[in-house]
Amino acid sequence: MTLSAKPLLRVEGLKKYFPVRRGYLQRVGSYVRAVDGVDLTIQPHQTLGLVGESGCGKSTVARLILRLLNPDDGTVQFDGREITALTERAFKPLRKQIQMIFQDPYSSLNPRMTVAQSISDGVRMAGIKNKSDQRKRIRQLLDMVGMPAASAGRYPHEFSGGQRQRVGIARALSVSPKLVLCDEPISALDVSIQAQIINLLKDLQAELGLSYLFISHDLNVVSYICDYVCVMYRGRIVESAPATVLFDKPCHPYTLNLLAAVPEATEVGWSPQVGAELQRAVLPDGCAFGDQCPDYGDDCKHEPADMVKVGDGHYVRCWNAA
Ligand SMILES: Nc1ncnc2c1ncn2[C@@H]1O[C@H](COP(=O)(O)OP(=O)(O)OP(=O)(O)O)[C@@H](O)[C@H]1O
Ligand SMILES: [Mg+2]
Repeated sequence: MTLSAKPLLRVEGLKKYFPVRRGYLQRVGSYVRAVDGVDLTIQPHQTLGLVGESGCGKSTVARLILRLLNPDDGTVQFDGREITALTERAFKPLRKQIQMIFQDPYSSLNPRMTVAQSISDGVRMAGIKNKSDQRKRIRQLLDMVGMPAASAGRYPHEFSGGQRQRVGIARALSVSPKLVLCDEPISALDVSIQAQIINLLKDLQAELGLSYLFISHDLNVVSYICDYVCVMYRGRIVESAPATVLFDKPCHPYTLNLLAAVPEATEVGWSPQVGAELQRAVLPDGCAFGDQCPDYGDDCKHEPADMVKVGDGHYVRCWNAA
């Protein structure tokens, strides 16, 4: 992990286990280790990619950062303050600095609210009281995301998927956040629209100095938009590196598998569906990738407790790769 004096977000040892209930009495049989000791750091104005197959725990990490879920263990520091232990009241002013963009903008926008109504809550939360200033700010936000001013009075169902995602981005930006958690923001969109939204996110980052956590299955997009990438497998980060290094010199056998599943794509927008596997409640001893790894040996019965450094900012949780 790149260390700097003042990261915007630092997550350490984050854990969330979900109980699996069985039988008529709904007794807890076991736990799904959705997030099992995750560390990550996001620097100001940078994009951290979080990749891994379906069910590996990516969205749970985002929900824990936003405090939509309480962690079982670990800490989240935002802008130098630990937010995990704050009361709801103390967290309130910080909440607007972290926003989320969802995969499906249709379900995240209220169908009975016009675009202006959806965005105006955030504009008010940002402290703009005067009605005409609010209207001005809404127009400015729509312009920033490439939507005409006339869209303010229209409803979500009147737009295409790409336009709705633009509205979702405008709503996230309405509170002037520092960090935006993008959970698969383009995977529900038509391929032809995906590149437009990605470029919009890049432009907004340059203009507003935003930081992103970018969750995606699409490794081509991740290599295009991210500065640093964490690869997640069964609730753990198994490799992390600057994006260029990760794609040039991947080390962990799971990362190699992920990359091997990506065909040579020449443009942004192609989306591989990587091994959609359900997270198993019971994992093998030692390395979680052990039962699938061709190089599984005696050492692997004990997973490295810490990530092993293999290069500048490049860490891997694997004895063989190290
Ligand atoms: N509220 C919950 N209750 C019980 N189990 C949950 C809950 N939320 C998530 N899980 C389980 O935790 C694991 C991780 O889920 P999560 O949604 O974080 O995965 P993901 O990496 O975002 O997957 P995808 O790429 O499909 O979105 C999965 O096994 C999921 O079934
Ligand atoms: Mg998810």
